[in-house]
Parts: sequence; C-alpha cells; structure tokens
Amino acid sequence: MELQEAITTRRSVRHYLAQEVEKDKIEAMIQAAACAPSWKNSQVTRYYVAQGPKALTKTAEALPEFNRQNVQGAPVLIVLTIVLNRSGFDRDGRPSNELGNGWGYYDCGLQTMNLLLKATELGLSTLVMGIRDEKKLRELFGIPDTESVVSVISIGYSDSEPQMPKRKPLSEIAQFFEE
Ligand SMILES: Cc1cc2nc3c(=O)[nH]c(=O)nc-3n(C[C@H](O)[C@H](O)[C@H](O)COP(=O)(O)O)c2cc1C
Repeated sequence: MELQEAITTRRSVRHYLAQEVEKDKIEAMIQAAACAPSWKNSQVTRYYVAQGPKALTKTAEALPEFNRQNVQGAPVLIVLTIVLNRSGFDRDGRPSNELGNGWGYYDCGLQTMNLLLKATELGLSTLVMGIRDEKKLRELFGIPDTESVVSVISIGYSDSEPQMPKRKPLSEIAQFFEE
C-alpha cells in the first residue's frame, strides 16, 4: 500500500469483526510506532497490550459506556503511556522550554500515527480514545507514577466503512510567508 493511500483511507472505526489479530501484526505495529522520531531519541512511549478475554474486559471497564460500545468485540486494546520528565528535559532534570512534558506527549502522538498507518497497511482498523479512566487503567496494568496514561487504542478488523469526516480547508489551517 502506498503511503498516500494509507493516509487517506485510515478511519476511526467503531465496529469490529469477531476476528483475532495475529501477534506478529501487533508487534509490527508497535515496531513501526517505535521508528518515529522523539526528543533526543528519548523514546518515552510505552505500550500495555490487552489481548486475552480477561484483560480486554477489564480494559473496557476503564472506558465510559459510549467508548465501551465503540470497541465492543475489538480483539486488541492498547494503553499508551509516556515516561515523565525525560522528553523535553535537560540532563540536569530541568525542562528545556515552556512545553516541558508536552514534548513527551508530542512524541507519543508521532508514534501513534505510525502505529495507525501500519495498522492500515496491514488491513486493520483502529480507534484512538482519549476519554478513559486513568486511575482504573493504572491499577489494572500496574502503571507506575513515573508514567502518565495517555490513550487507549482499539485494533481489529473493521465491520464498517465510515467516510472521512470533513477536514478544514488549507486556507484555514496554514499560512504561507513567501517574502
Ligand atoms: C487524541 C484523540 C482522542 C480521541 N478520543 C476519542 C474517543 O474517546 N472516542 C471516540 O469515539 N473517538 C475519539 N477520537 C477519534 C476522533 O473522533 C476522530 O479521529 C475524528 O473524528 C476524525 O475521524 P477519522 O479518525 O476517521 O479521520 C479521538 C482521536 C484522537 C486523535
């Protein structure tokens, strides 16, 4: 699949087939994610993968009802976290600029996009969820205080064909300075 096709055909999917996702595909997605650039190559994104029925049920319980519905039957749920106070920080532990840990979240976003595009290439669909119960996820996966819980991503084979929601025109989002 060409990159442009993956970029334009990737969609947030909220209906999944009851079909397993092969382990090697999950690993390939996380490996693609890890190829993304990061602040001083700090690579602070971490992945907690729920695949078995018990882990999936527990993870879904950390989602509000509407997101639980969205991912019903999804065979994989991944919790993304970042290790705090590394990306965006100097060796002496001070933030390099005003964004501080914002750079860790930025890096996590870059990894996420690689993961979503790799999933698309592999014929899989995803949904990024920012609305989730941080405390429940922390407890369930034993996520330490040194990490910040970011998102939950569902992965599976799609049972729907959503259209691309409207995008803002270039004129609204970009300014060109050509002088
Ligand atoms: C950071 C982030 C958080 C999101 N959280 C949710 C969520 O909690 N529930 C949901 O249904 N969709 C969520 N979405 C999906 C967006 O609604 C979706 O990406 C957007 O409508 C554009 O659609 P598309 O992904 O098909 O292009 C989230 C997306 C992002 C990037």
